[in-house]
Amino acid sequence: MNIRKPFIAGNWKMYKTCAESVETATKLAGLVSGVTNVDIMIAPSFIALALVYEAVKESSVMVGAQNIFWEKEGAFTGEISPQMAASAGCRYVIIGHSERRQYFSETDLSVNKKIRAAINNNLTPVFCIGETEKERDADNTFNILDKQIKMGLEGFSPDNVQSVILAYEPVWAIGTGKTASSGQAQEVHKFIRDLIENLFGKKIAGSARILYGGSVKPENIKELMSMPDVDGALVGGASLNAEKFAEIVKFK
Ligand code: 13P
Repeated sequence: MNIRKPFIAGNWKMYKTCAESVETATKLAGLVSGVTNVDIMIAPSFIALALVYEAVKESSVMVGAQNIFWEKEGAFTGEISPQMAASAGCRYVIIGHSERRQYFSETDLSVNKKIRAAINNNLTPVFCIGETEKERDADNTFNILDKQIKMGLEGFSPDNVQSVILAYEPVWAIGTGKTASSGQAQEVHKFIRDLIENLFGKKIAGSARILYGGSVKPENIKELMSMPDVDGALVGGASLNAEKFAEIVKFK
């Protein structure tokens, strides 16, 4: 039996003004009212976080940031601290998304510092990992994931890792409409769970939620969620539309 509560998250990336964010979030909160069997999170842009939180705080929709810096405060122009994100209503933070690794020079080392900072400030990290198409074609998928996970969680105790949510997002499936098949997702999720077991023990591995991300839509969520090691989804494009995202949330 799967004891892990499904987690469905929407990563809004750099989309929506403040007004549009509030409108979509408000609509979503209405559409998913009464859903208690799934944890629901949306990650709007930093600028809309506090407004979106105000709009959904009475609902079952929770709010997350798309990134944080690891320092509490200081002369770091343009950065947001974990404390600031929490003060805007965030309970979660997406860390190490492939777009941040690709366009903003995030490394396994900076990801590690950010995960630590999140945990220390009671933010649940959604730790993203995934291989590129080239890496998959070269049969390097598992090596890449092994490195990303070991470095991202280096120096952590099982206690630290307890709250971490992992998100497997094959880079070739993000925004391309090319979803990994449920079999491909299951194979990788099982690999990730086994690795977590090796590193942190059976209990942590058994309760760790591993999300799939990459072209998740209302049409494919059910099949993905039927896999024993797929515990939820990190949704990009389809989460921008309240109706579509609500359909994904209500996949059962
Ligand atoms: P898409 O759902 O648009 O492919 O994006 C996935 C993603 O990157 C979520 O973080």
